[in-house]
Amino acid sequence: MQETILILDFGSQYTQLIARRVRELNVYCEIHPFNKIPKDLSEVKGVILSGSPFSVRDAESPVPELENIRGKLPLLGVCYGAQFLAQHDGGEVLPSKIREYGRANLGFINQDCKLMHGMSNNSQVWMSHGDTILNIPENYDIITSTETVEVAGFKVRDEETFGIQFHPEVYHTTEGAVLLKNFIVDICGCHQQWTPDSFVETTVEALKQKLGNDKVVLGLSGGVDSSVAAILLHKAIGKNLYCIFVDNGLLRKNEFEDVLYSYKDLGLNVKGVNASDLFLDALVGEEEPEKKRKIIGNTFIDVFDEEAHLIQDVKWLAQGTIYPDVIESISVKGPSATIKSHHNVGGLPDFMKLKVVEPLNTLFKDEVRRIGRSMDMPSHILDRHPFPGPGLGIRILGDITREKVRILQEVDHIFIQGLRDDDLYNDVWQSLAVLLPVKSVGVMGDERTYENVVALRAVGSTDGMTADWSHLPYEFLAKVSNKIINQVKGVNRVVYDISSKPPSTIEWE
Ligand code: XMP
Repeated sequence: MQETILILDFGSQYTQLIARRVRELNVYCEIHPFNKIPKDLSEVKGVILSGSPFSVRDAESPVPELENIRGKLPLLGVCYGAQFLAQHDGGEVLPSKIREYGRANLGFINQDCKLMHGMSNNSQVWMSHGDTILNIPENYDIITSTETVEVAGFKVRDEETFGIQFHPEVYHTTEGAVLLKNFIVDICGCHQQWTPDSFVETTVEALKQKLGNDKVVLGLSGGVDSSVAAILLHKAIGKNLYCIFVDNGLLRKNEFEDVLYSYKDLGLNVKGVNASDLFLDALVGEEEPEKKRKIIGNTFIDVFDEEAHLIQDVKWLAQGTIYPDVIESISVKGPSATIKSHHNVGGLPDFMKLKVVEPLNTLFKDEVRRIGRSMDMPSHILDRHPFPGPGLGIRILGDITREKVRILQEVDHIFIQGLRDDDLYNDVWQSLAVLLPVKSVGVMGDERTYENVVALRAVGSTDGMTADWSHLPYEFLAKVSNKIINQVKGVNRVVYDISSKPPSTIEWE
């Protein structure tokens, strides 16, 4: 049995963060929309109700059906979750008269309450809500208060049901981990046995059962997710895993050979397919970013399909889909459930008629890396910066030619190698070079030049949804810029991108 914490999502921006905090305690958890509570709760040891952009006073506010949970399983409501419980049980929730946003301190803590064990007096917490619980129902006890919020936390008498009006999952709640551990370990009784090693063991076993002697095909991209998925599957089914690595002509310099070599080194049964000409010919003259993406995506499917058909009796298609791609998040515009589109896998062909196996679809990105580490995968694969499927194709602005690919590969190589040499590679989340569709005047020796401009970009981020430009040292930028202009024929100017996301994006197209 897999001990599970169920997180019911009411649309808060912090819901995924709650899940990560629970998992950091080595306890497995799943996020489900508030209106899609699983029927089988036999593995669930406790439930957390998330926050929400809604007010419980809205006519449209999300209302969960908790009959199978209330009083039967430990329950913790966070912000909206707490306000929902209080109002549902006859308490009063009203718009807050004072600002309840930002840092606050827990001046009163009932140390006898299991949830609050070990929290220090005046512990700092993070509040973020427009409503507040003014009156609690009769069978509720206040377990903690701040100077301005009396009902910062409550417990329902004779029930393991709790509510807190602050966010234990955010960094600014300094003892949030203590509180969550109290709930998950002491109150729910979870054993904290969900570790990378145990994940590998149970997943490999489950894959063996599921796949038996069937053949599986997987498209490797050189990225972390498909690589870790491949190694897991390889452990389960060995040579029955057929990996395909396609060179689309838009990879980084030497990447095809380097990556292919390291995969073979890992023992994978991998076939490298050089399809550069097919991609580059299909792209001739196309300037529009979305059309370029489509051409690259469709050509990939054609190549992959042809290769997959060469494998006799292949039954399964394996994908490196990760948890954020499959979480159903509730739309903040209404309680109807929407599913995020798969960023990388949207276009995979139904016509291949293969069953799909996705061994990483319960994991967050950092967990995928940890699993990879526990399987002794090399850091040059695990710590690679993200690289988009369309590759350099969306970093050559406008139309793509072989000469432009060559220039950008050289520039990119000098930049990335420079980051590695100066120990800066792991300080940034993603780094890239962009070839701009403008020329600029320069002077080299006595000659006037009129050549290409490239932009360098390095960003810090956790998931690519938001990002800030990295403050790389001036000396480093100067060195790299000199090297690029001196060594890459066709470039006479280098600029550094200092925009954050939002309002900009990470890629330029
Ligand atoms: P943006 O440019 O939207 O990028 O800020 C966010 C993250 O997504 C990557 N990206 C892509 N990945 N296919 C991919 O596989 C794409 O078409 C694509 N476009 C952007 C980007 O590199 C960054 O990590």
